[in-house]
Amino acid sequence: ILPELGKYFSEAPSNIALVKYWGKYGEQLPKNTSISYTLEECKTKTEVVLKKKIKAGVQFHFEVFFEGKRKASFEPKIETFLKRIETYVPFLKSFEFEIHTENTFPHSSGIASSASGMAALAKCIMKIETSVSPEISNVYLEHKTSFLARLGSGSACRSTGGKLVVWGQHPEIDGSSSFYGIDYPYDVHSNFRSFKDSILLIDEGQKQVSSSLGHNLMHNHPFAEQRFKQADDNITKLKSILTSGDYEAFFALVESEALSLHAMMMTSSPYFILMQPNTLQVIEKIWEFRKKENVHLGFTLDAGANVHLLYPESSAAMVRPFIDSQLLPFCHTNKVIHDQIQF
Ligand code: PMV
Repeated sequence: ILPELGKYFSEAPSNIALVKYWGKYGEQLPKNTSISYTLEECKTKTEVVLKKKIKAGVQFHFEVFFEGKRKASFEPKIETFLKRIETYVPFLKSFEFEIHTENTFPHSSGIASSASGMAALAKCIMKIETSVSPEISNVYLEHKTSFLARLGSGSACRSTGGKLVVWGQHPEIDGSSSFYGIDYPYDVHSNFRSFKDSILLIDEGQKQVSSSLGHNLMHNHPFAEQRFKQADDNITKLKSILTSGDYEAFFALVESEALSLHAMMMTSSPYFILMQPNTLQVIEKIWEFRKKENVHLGFTLDAGANVHLLYPESSAAMVRPFIDSQLLPFCHTNKVIHDQIQF
């Protein structure tokens, strides 16, 4: 039986990696294990509208609408995704469909929307599948949703469920897999269960370098093997930090991960500098403030110029005025998005 025509809605959050995924092989499989916090506020909301198929043929027939307007420029990436997943979701080809999508954060903010976007679309597709196969188990549903999202954008597999999500097979993490993300399976100290992520928008332009280009640059990279080992070792270290509650060790590891990711881009061929002068200014300010006030605060970066400021709820009373007075002047049009992690 085929799913019914109509609307299938889902939403998915963005995530911020503590140990970064950078480098892949085969069908979007990661060269190292990564782990991320799931954000609460930055989300993509997506609706797939299944319509009767009129045009014959084996092609996908779909249109993408972003914030209510047709967005043909999104379609090639989604077409690539649909082709990659077609054998896993054969029913999709029996329909024409529209994909309507919007983000809760500004599109031009430089916040990667591919993780939340592909995760939301994968969730819609699985909603369609479960509408005709209600007997499928929750575990199957979780794994397959994350598996499909991965084929859209690697980091998206960490955005389909869970609050602290591991992706990549790792000897120290039970149940971990390179095919899908899993909820971090161990206890986490209360210090790390309620965290703020204030995202400083340093550069509101479009992303300069696509992440797929970045991943590919790891193929002939002189430091690749060492980097993959470093990331996997950091997962082991983070596991004991998450148990102990040691803030200092946590921020040392997370900041080193961010800078290592950027170091890979600076030392690849061709090379790129993804930070802006203001990124460095902000990092200097954070380090100064942390030293002077002895406050629990650190940063991480994605593959761009924006800075994610991480701090526990208990530091918020000190950090918020610091952001407003000392960091906002370095942000593009004074912008910051206050998000959080809670579990
Ligand atoms: O999912 P992709 O292919 O856009 O890769 C994103 C990689 C980083 O965001 C830079 C790091 C990570 O682990 O999320």
